[in-house]
Amino acid sequence: MRTMRLVFLMAGGSVYIPDRVNAYFSTVVCLEHDGRVIVVDPGNLPSIDEYEKTFKEHGLKPEDVTDVLLTHVHLDHIFNSIFFENAIVYVHESFKTKDYKSFGLFYGKVYSWVIDSWKNVEFLKGGESLFGGKVRVFHTPWHAREHLSYLVHTENVGNLLIAGDLLPTRLKYYDIIKEYEKGDSKVFLESVMGEVNTIVFSHDSPLEVK
Ligand code: NI
Repeated sequence: MRTMRLVFLMAGGSVYIPDRVNAYFSTVVCLEHDGRVIVVDPGNLPSIDEYEKTFKEHGLKPEDVTDVLLTHVHLDHIFNSIFFENAIVYVHESFKTKDYKSFGLFYGKVYSWVIDSWKNVEFLKGGESLFGGKVRVFHTPWHAREHLSYLVHTENVGNLLIAGDLLPTRLKYYDIIKEYEKGDSKVFLESVMGEVNTIVFSHDSPLEVK
């Protein structure tokens, strides 16, 4: 049987300096399946030291990454995809309808660099099963219209829910389960939680739920 395995997880976060800087970097999940090296949300530049260390520990090189799955096309989740030049990039098809150049004089340029570095792009709609059914794809467009969530069945750590910025922090999750927040995210969460062993938060450390 072809197994799916979590290789490593680098928890995301943010760096905040009042009134000046609020720099986010997303959680990075690295998986291995049938000789493929899959990175979900490559994250942002502040993770580069951790990438150096973690890739060395696992005997990996950036060129070894075969697949990059994106929850959505925001810079703090996608920037480090520039390092994985051999990878197929998976993104929701509605990303095509966004004008990233309009995001700002500087942001427009950075988005162009990152997006132009993608040589192979695979468009998703939601509803797909990837990697022999080990990764299920959900269209969860409430944070950004191209936002996807992934339910990953691994053999070594059980089922991971990677819900991108629907679940940025543990606090958000507690707000939802304590009924402070209702709506589409809650409905989605309830529909998948029965299968989830660990929640991967996009800007916080993960939480084992069963
Ligand atoms: Ni975002």
